[in-house]
Amino acid sequence: MQTVHTIAELRAQVMAWKRAGEQVAFVPTMGNLHRGHIHLVECARELAPRTVASIFVNPMQFGPSEDFAAYPRTLDADSRQLETAGLDLLFAPGVTEVYPRPLEQMTQVTVPELPTVLCGASRPTHFSGVTTVVSKLFNMVQPDIAVFGEKDWQQLVIIRRMATDLDMPVAIVGVPTVREPDGLALSSRNGYLSAEERAIAPTLYATLRATAERLRAGERDFAALEAEAKAQLASAGFRPDYFEIRRPADLQRPNLEDAELRIFAAAWLGRARLIDNWPVG
Ligand code: PAF
Repeated sequence: MQTVHTIAELRAQVMAWKRAGEQVAFVPTMGNLHRGHIHLVECARELAPRTVASIFVNPMQFGPSEDFAAYPRTLDADSRQLETAGLDLLFAPGVTEVYPRPLEQMTQVTVPELPTVLCGASRPTHFSGVTTVVSKLFNMVQPDIAVFGEKDWQQLVIIRRMATDLDMPVAIVGVPTVREPDGLALSSRNGYLSAEERAIAPTLYATLRATAERLRAGERDFAALEAEAKAQLASAGFRPDYFEIRRPADLQRPNLEDAELRIFAAAWLGRARLIDNWPVG
């Protein structure tokens, strides 16, 4: 596996592959990798002969009171995992390579509407930071395919919309969430959980599944189901941010006749903000 830190080195290698007619699949990450990320790389390897991953803790997607400074940076361990997974090229730029001027002076990419709901309601600048860095990374890597985890379903929907609206020549592929045996979705932020919180954490998944079963059985009082689920999470020890039933494709509130639904949840447990989602139908 080759590791590069500059856009020029990255482009030289990707251009060589493209000249040889080889497609490139790309996995953007913020590092601190777990099995979920490695699964994304494995999926990317099945989709294209060449694979690139990036590790960049993107300051633009963190709010002023969020964990940017504390976010774990584990480049050596991450590199070893990516090499074992058979990745071809790791792009690990520094902040000034991606943002050569202060963040507030950089052009931003913002998708309308979708970023204002769910996580965006409590993290108002987060998704502009994500779409800005992902569009920059797409311009740097020029991948044919880009792979994202479904754990952050809202991010996946927003990136698909951005790629469609801006005619980006890249196919966006979503990969189902990898879970622990007790159902907890793998996340870099699970490392913030104490042993006691780790024991409580799967309640988020269990509550999503229980609500999905009731929707499948025909219950349609969405507001009552959401309120009940939030109360259950609170009594288990979470501080729920949201628990909402929405349409999977456009994240809008469903009508009674909508057959395809998805349930989205975010909740604080200690200093970890956990997110998850689960399909209905
Ligand atoms: O999902 C993430 O890890 C990040 O939001 C991403 C897509 C790598 C952009 O920084």
